[in-house]
Amino acid sequence: MMLSVKIIDYDHQGRGIAKVDSKVVFIPKAKLGEEVSIKLVKEKKNYSIGRRCDTLKVKYCPYYQACGGCQIGHLTYDEQLEYKKNTVKNIFSKYTNYNLDSLEIIPTKCYNYRNKVTFHIKEDKLGYYEEETNNLIPIDKCNLLDSDIITLTASLNSFIKVHKKLTKAIIKSLDGKLMLILEGKESKESIKEFFSSTVSSLYYNNKLISGVPSLMIDVLSKKFMVRKDSFFQINKEGISLIYKEVINLVKELNCNIIYDLYCGTGTISLLISDYAKKVIGIEVVEDAVRDAKSNTKLNNITNTEFYLGDVSKVINNLDYTPDTIILDPPRSGISKDLIEFLLSLKVKNIIYVSCNPLTLARDINLLDSNYFLKSIKLVDEFPNTYHLESITLLNLRNEK
Ligand SMILES: C[S@@+](CC[C@H](N)C(=O)[O-])C[C@H]1O[C@@H](n2cnc3c(N)ncnc32)[C@H](O)[C@@H]1O
Repeated sequence: MMLSVKIIDYDHQGRGIAKVDSKVVFIPKAKLGEEVSIKLVKEKKNYSIGRRCDTLKVKYCPYYQACGGCQIGHLTYDEQLEYKKNTVKNIFSKYTNYNLDSLEIIPTKCYNYRNKVTFHIKEDKLGYYEEETNNLIPIDKCNLLDSDIITLTASLNSFIKVHKKLTKAIIKSLDGKLMLILEGKESKESIKEFFSSTVSSLYYNNKLISGVPSLMIDVLSKKFMVRKDSFFQINKEGISLIYKEVINLVKELNCNIIYDLYCGTGTISLLISDYAKKVIGIEVVEDAVRDAKSNTKLNNITNTEFYLGDVSKVINNLDYTPDTIILDPPRSGISKDLIEFLLSLKVKNIIYVSCNPLTLARDINLLDSNYFLKSIKLVDEFPNTYHLESITLLNLRNEK
C-alpha cells in the first residue's frame, strides 16, 4: 500500500523520519520537509522502514537511489554539513552532559576523494550492495572514487566479463600508485597477465603475485609505507586535515610522553614525534605495526616505539607515565577495560579521534567522572555519506 508522509527529522544514518499513526518510519534518501509517497518494506514493533516510490535522481550518480554506498548525496553540500553538525549535537545532548552550541565542521572535496574501495563480484558483475540488503548493484563508475581507481574499475569490469570466478576486489590508490587485491577461483596466470603492468602491487587470495608489497604516500612532509592489511585514512585531502588538527593540539599542550593507541601504520605517532619527547604506539594488525616500524626508519625518527597487540592488554605492560593519550579506535569505540584503565591513570590530556559520534559520546560519558570535554572539531571526511570524523580534546578534572 502506498502512503503519503512528511519528513519531520533525520536519524544519525541520514534517513528521513516520518510518522504513520504515531509510529516512526525511517525512509532512506528523503529530505527534511519533503512530502513523499512511500511503501513500507519492513515493519517492526516500534518502527518501520519505508522506501520512496518515486524516482530520485542526483547528478553525480545513476545508481544513487538503490545503492547503499551514499546516503545524503541528494542534499546540497551546505545541507550535508548542517545535517552532520546537527547529528553530532543531537547525539551529544542525548548521551552526554554537553550541549554543543557552536560546532565547526571542516569541508572537503565532494567527489573523487576516496583512495580505497571494496567491490563485491558475482560472475560478470561488480559493484556495491543495495541499500539495506546484500543484493549487488552493478557499477561501471563511482564518482566518489579517485580517478585512478575509476580507470582500474573499468579494466576490472572488462576482465570479469570473460573471467567470471572472482568474488571480491579491493583497490587502494596512494600518490598515483595502485594496489589491487583480488579473491576468487580464477587462474592466477590470467590475473597476472591482465593486471601486472597496470598496478604496482597485485595480490590474489592473500598472496602477492606481482609488484611490490606496499604503497607509499607523502603526508605533511613525512613518508608512509602502507601494506595490504594496514588501515589508512580514505579521504585523499582529509588525511592531512585530520592530522593537522591533532598536531595543533599536541603543540598547544606541550606534551612530553604520548601514547598513540590504535596507531595503525604509525601516521599520527610519526607526525607528532617532532613535538614530544617520546611517542609509543599500539596496534593489533601485524602488517600495520611492521609499516609503523619501517616508516620510523624511513623518516629518520628516533623517539617512537611500536607494540603489537590489543590496546587494553599491551597498555598494562608499558612502563611509561604518559601526559597525553591519543585514541583513534575503529567505529566500535574503546573497550570497557581501556575506559577503566584511563579512569585510573588520570592522564592530563586525551585526544580522541573518532569516526563514530555515537561511540564517541558513549565513551566521553563513561570517562566523565575524571575527564571533561575541552574542545571538539569535525572534519567531513566522507561527503555524500552520513559518516564524519571528529577530533576531541578531553582534560583531566581537578581533584579537590
Ligand atoms: C581508525 S584506525 C586508526 C589508525 C591510525 N591512527 C591512522 O590514523 O591511520 C583504527 C586502528 O585500530 C586498530 N585496532 C582495532 N582494534 C584494536 C585493538 N583492540 N587494539 C589495537 N589496535 C586495534 C585497527 O587495526 C586500525 O589500524
